[in-house]
Amino acid sequence: AKGLQVAIDGPASAGKSTVAKKVAKKFGYVYCDTGAMYRSVTWAALQANLSMDDKEAIVELAQKINISFQPGDPEQRVFVDNHEVTKEIRSNEVAENVSAVAAIPEVRSEMVQEQRKIAGQGGIVMDGRDIGTTVLPNAPVKIFLVASAYERARRRFEENKAKGIATSTLEELQKAIELRDQKDSTRKVSPLTKASDAIEIDSTHLTINEVVDEISKIIEKKD
Ligand code: C5P
Repeated sequence: AKGLQVAIDGPASAGKSTVAKKVAKKFGYVYCDTGAMYRSVTWAALQANLSMDDKEAIVELAQKINISFQPGDPEQRVFVDNHEVTKEIRSNEVAENVSAVAAIPEVRSEMVQEQRKIAGQGGIVMDGRDIGTTVLPNAPVKIFLVASAYERARRRFEENKAKGIATSTLEELQKAIELRDQKDSTRKVSPLTKASDAIEIDSTHLTINEVVDEISKIIEKKD
């Protein structure tokens, strides 16, 4: 068998991508970070000096650019046309603007179409905000990964420090995370919400490996 479709959704910095990558590796599945796709459109819009209010221009750009990554690339490199944007899409400027771009319905339909192609029949771990609700509504495994806003900010703060990335204060990080969650949860199209058949995991007091183990057990039960 090729494997299952595994959907992992949840708020910003809940550890979705770290956990999703490990789960994918463990089962020999492909990992797909859908947030990177919305970030790439945002990066391209900023690069083109588009106003974030100019929805028409952003939609046109989203349809024109080619976002690509190699499924299974251990470095998870992301390209917009032929330009590598792996690091650039993690900037504060992109993070501050991505929710506005991701709220545009035509941008979403473009990305969702692409994501369904990547997910194919299975053997995929896909993380995002609307994977279980919209992109892969029939996925047999749906996880909603949460953690307290303080804990998410604390982890991001430590991660930035370890990577030597200039970081704002812990309080500022928490505020930015909460603001992005609020925008993502209240938009009209495919807001961040737990699918009715998703299993919620609160990682506030769990290690990465404990979360990976919990998800692995759920996959093994279905496989
Ligand atoms: O996962 P990440 O934090 O990189 O996602 C960046 C942003 O992309 C989110 O804050 C959200 O606005 C958008 N997004 C989305 N739907 C997804 C994945 C990400 O709207 N499936």
